Amino acid sequence: MTDYVAAIDQGTTSTRCMVFDHSGAVVSVHQLEHEQIFPRAGWVEHNAEEIWANTREVTAGALAKADITSANIAAVGITNQRETALVWDRSTGKPVYNAIVWQDTRTDRIVDQLGALGGGAERYKDKVGLPLATYFSGPKVRWILDNVDGAKEAAERGDLLFGNMDTWLLWNMTGGVDGGLHITDVTNASRTMLMDLTTLSWDADIAAEMGIPLSMLPEIRPSSQVYGEGRQGGSLPGVKIAGDLGDQQAATFGQVCFDVGTAKNTYGTGNFLLLNTGTEQVKSENGLLTTVCYKIGDADAVYALEGSIAVTGSLVQWVRDNLGLIGSAPEIEEVARTVEDNGGAYFVPAFSGLFAPYWRSDARGALVGLTRYVNKGHIARAVLEATAFQSKEVMDAMNADSGVDLTELKVDGGMVQNELLMQFQADILGVPVFRPQVAETTALGAAYAAGLAVGYWSNQDDLRQNWQEDKRWTPSMDAAKRDKEYANWKKAVTRTFDWVE
Ligand code: G3P
Repeated sequence: MTDYVAAIDQGTTSTRCMVFDHSGAVVSVHQLEHEQIFPRAGWVEHNAEEIWANTREVTAGALAKADITSANIAAVGITNQRETALVWDRSTGKPVYNAIVWQDTRTDRIVDQLGALGGGAERYKDKVGLPLATYFSGPKVRWILDNVDGAKEAAERGDLLFGNMDTWLLWNMTGGVDGGLHITDVTNASRTMLMDLTTLSWDADIAAEMGIPLSMLPEIRPSSQVYGEGRQGGSLPGVKIAGDLGDQQAATFGQVCFDVGTAKNTYGTGNFLLLNTGTEQVKSENGLLTTVCYKIGDADAVYALEGSIAVTGSLVQWVRDNLGLIGSAPEIEEVARTVEDNGGAYFVPAFSGLFAPYWRSDARGALVGLTRYVNKGHIARAVLEATAFQSKEVMDAMNADSGVDLTELKVDGGMVQNELLMQFQADILGVPVFRPQVAETTALGAAYAAGLAVGYWSNQDDLRQNWQEDKRWTPSMDAAKRDKEYANWKKAVTRTFDWVE
């Protein structure tokens, strides 16, 4: 009997497999971290073969923990860190270079050169919804073709394949060199800078300008559709692979933000606030991205406005790993609670430049407002507050672009367990913030997409009924204090500019 749906969530720091039941409750989860490779300042890489090995292991682990086999799984969905770019050889299955991670800034020159062709950062924005920035996949592929010996020629011969991490997993899961499917979905494709948002197909002119042969690019599919089956001999033999969404779009789906005007903010490695704009593409005037939210089968694509913040949870990891100020990520809350406030300190974590709403690759991190008074507790506060201030900036941009003020915010992701942060978030936004019972909405969204495609759930109303509120935080800070704090933050942000030529 096929009682469950599975999801594979290939994130920036770890890969996990989760099994869900019909009510959307978590039945089991198995998770493995992978190595973060930092070859130089500004460079971030992952070993794609390690990630594929982890994917197999977590899938087997999640089934074992639930005491089920693949025969109990109605369908599996994939969700992934977006924009992380990989190029591999179609006949050997070997990557020609490590995956270049979304946070990596090595493509700044390529991006500048493309902008210099005319139009600057806005060169492709009308077509693809994105400003030219190091964040997206296309320029990373160009870098690999320019810098790996023989890669350009091999790509031109048709020997190489490109994919974001969803494509890499799907290709391997469906057979790899023995006929694996080379596909992606509209949400992932919309993060490459190569897809036309209206036609939902690759734009040959942009690909040519970036020097990327079309033969490398995967076929673009809906986010919810039966793509194929798990290969025999794999951990999900014969299981229908039926969902594929970038992780932030998956979280939006898992939060059942199906109505125009509904939004969620996910607190992961970075923060990503997405607002459903329906079948309309809203072009941002305030530093947000226009992106595909999801496409269910043959139905029209649904779009979103997105505020992407590169560094939030990863700042806590940095404080743990690079400074040793805390022993574990959750300890940051304990340390922050040893003091009343930030003591005048503000931490702007512009480690990958600044994403929304600034899009400045010349920015680098700054900790400002320091005096002898400031201690470890104040720094812990400043670290947490940075997440909330950055979210406020993208929410302001969202309100300005959509012309309608958000009156509440659904939140999810690892950091939403942090009560101090959530209260501060509500205070700084001035609107209630609330968390669903299943905070793992990314994996849930991928499971929903897969389950819908095979009829495990009949329609989106079925999914809406699964959503339950867990906890709500209401604003309690007085307006004058809030405005002062935010003004200080804005001043701190200006201190990060012009650090890189
Ligand atoms: O765009 C990057 C985003 O998809 C990464 O998400 O949760 O892995 O930090 P996460």
